Amino acid sequence: MNALCYVSLLLWAISLTQCSRILGVFPSSGYSQFILCEKLMAELARRGHEVTVISAYKPKEDITNYKTILTDGLVKETEENMFLLEDITALNSIVFFYKFGLFLTEYILSHQEVQGVIHSNETFDLVIVEQFGNEAHMGFSRHFGAHLILFSSIGLTEWNSHLVGNTRLLSNEPILFTPYTNRMSFFQRLHNTIINILDTLYKHLFVFPQQQELLTKYFPNKIHLDEIIYNASLLLLNSHPSTNHPSFLTSSIVEIGGFHITSKSLPGDIQKSLDEAKDGAILFSMGSNLKMSHLPNHTLNAILNVFSKLKHRVLWKFDGSSIQSKPNNVLISKWLPQSDILAHPNTVAFVTHGGLLSTTEAVFYGVPMVGIPIFGDQKMNVARSVQKGIAVYLPFKGLSEVTLYGAISEILNNPKYKQNSKRYSDILRDRPVKPLDLATYWIEYVIKHGGASHLRNASLDLNWFQLYLLDVVGVLALLVVVLYFFIKLLCVKIYVILKNNTKNKSSKDRATKKRN
Ligand SMILES: *[C@@H]1O[C@H](CO)[C@@H](O)[C@H](O)[C@H]1NC(C)=O
Ligand SMILES: *[C@@H]1O[C@H](CO)[C@@H](O)[C@H](O)[C@H]1NC(C)=O
Ligand SMILES: *[C@@H]1O[C@H](CO)[C@@H](O)[C@H](O)[C@H]1NC(C)=O
Repeated sequence: MNALCYVSLLLWAISLTQCSRILGVFPSSGYSQFILCEKLMAELARRGHEVTVISAYKPKEDITNYKTILTDGLVKETEENMFLLEDITALNSIVFFYKFGLFLTEYILSHQEVQGVIHSNETFDLVIVEQFGNEAHMGFSRHFGAHLILFSSIGLTEWNSHLVGNTRLLSNEPILFTPYTNRMSFFQRLHNTIINILDTLYKHLFVFPQQQELLTKYFPNKIHLDEIIYNASLLLLNSHPSTNHPSFLTSSIVEIGGFHITSKSLPGDIQKSLDEAKDGAILFSMGSNLKMSHLPNHTLNAILNVFSKLKHRVLWKFDGSSIQSKPNNVLISKWLPQSDILAHPNTVAFVTHGGLLSTTEAVFYGVPMVGIPIFGDQKMNVARSVQKGIAVYLPFKGLSEVTLYGAISEILNNPKYKQNSKRYSDILRDRPVKPLDLATYWIEYVIKHGGASHLRNASLDLNWFQLYLLDVVGVLALLVVVLYFFIKLLCVKIYVILKNNTKNKSSKDRATKKRN
């Protein structure tokens, strides 16, 4: 324990029991995932813990107690035209993301500096792993003899739920990559069930063996995947019923959606632009992974034509080179403080790809959305927002001047979107504890209670046929069969006895008749 840590200990003595050494493994190359990572890990550092973070970005300013192991080469490697993913089926998406996960896993593990940490004499009390198809990264916890906490930037999914023994009912939990909500039709449930089964098979037959190979290759001591992936003390989800939907959650799952939102003041020019937007302002951003330079020309032109017809101020996160003939009411910038723009009272609509972070920020500030989802969980997020009456879905394929203008007009002119947005904003804000405080409380709780094994769900120690009571159902079915044959036999016996009786009786009757 160094001096600084000791001072912090005194400062935070009320809430804190000890200063711990925490390793954060955040493999994602997306900047939005890093926003979540930085917020969480910086808060732990602020509370006096010594934090080391493996990530593709680092904080803009130095943070005390916060050290980055930078894997930024990843960002270049993953720059692809993500618009091309719009068309692929749920099944293809599953395979695509598991392959991507394997790529990320190996990239991080083979990284020179990461290997440096693995082979150093550093120690950690706790490892926090962002869950992204990167099971082998949970090996850090075994390697360092540290407790394990999982973090998911996309909420409860088939990627993480089973890791803490949580039950996901397929009747109301759609798989990622589908545009389904928690209310599914018969055919949606059928599709959802089949895809879930294929996902589970693919994971166990193809993904896990490869994750095991990476574990064996990059950690000095043999680690068995089975022993580490079901041993997390806690699963933190970046979700909330106001942005996702209500779910069954076991005791070791904590929802902290919205924890990354903090209000900051806007840069002068944006503040001025928004203040002056007497007719309201519209924010247009497709997030950090979708590049405007990949937009087809006809789509770009359609967007520009629609914006030029609006009397609103438009703020557009645009990463391409400049736009020819940009309308006067449009302000473009490579980077925009999205959350704080949504917070401005003049912002009336948000045209978005429907990423969970963007959705959460829009819900938090009560801004209705036009959702143009492309890949990953975006279609599902937009479907949920449509279900809540806070968004209009606009398919990217066939996006035209008419459809975009129609969607924006609907959001602006139909008051139900604003009313619903206000309602869900109130719901997201009405929490007994601030979500960031909730997150750090539970993280420190795990350290304090030595891994919190009392929260571990017993279903983790059952076979799949025990878990789904298939053994019990089997025995009950057998009983029914036995009972059926028993009753049948009994009926036959009774029938025979009765028949014999009547036969005897009638022959007796005949004999009596004869005698008479
Ligand atoms: C690790 O070991 C080296 C020598 O083997 C020592 O100089 C260094 O201080 C140690 N570092 C830590 C963090 O214990
Ligand atoms: C599982 O987690 C507990 C609590 O953190 C820890 O004590 C135990 O060593 C872990 N087991 C394995 C195999 O890593
Ligand atoms: C789009 O427009 C730019 C410049 O106007 C041109 O260089 C490019 O070839 C066009 N792309 C397509 C796919 O038409």
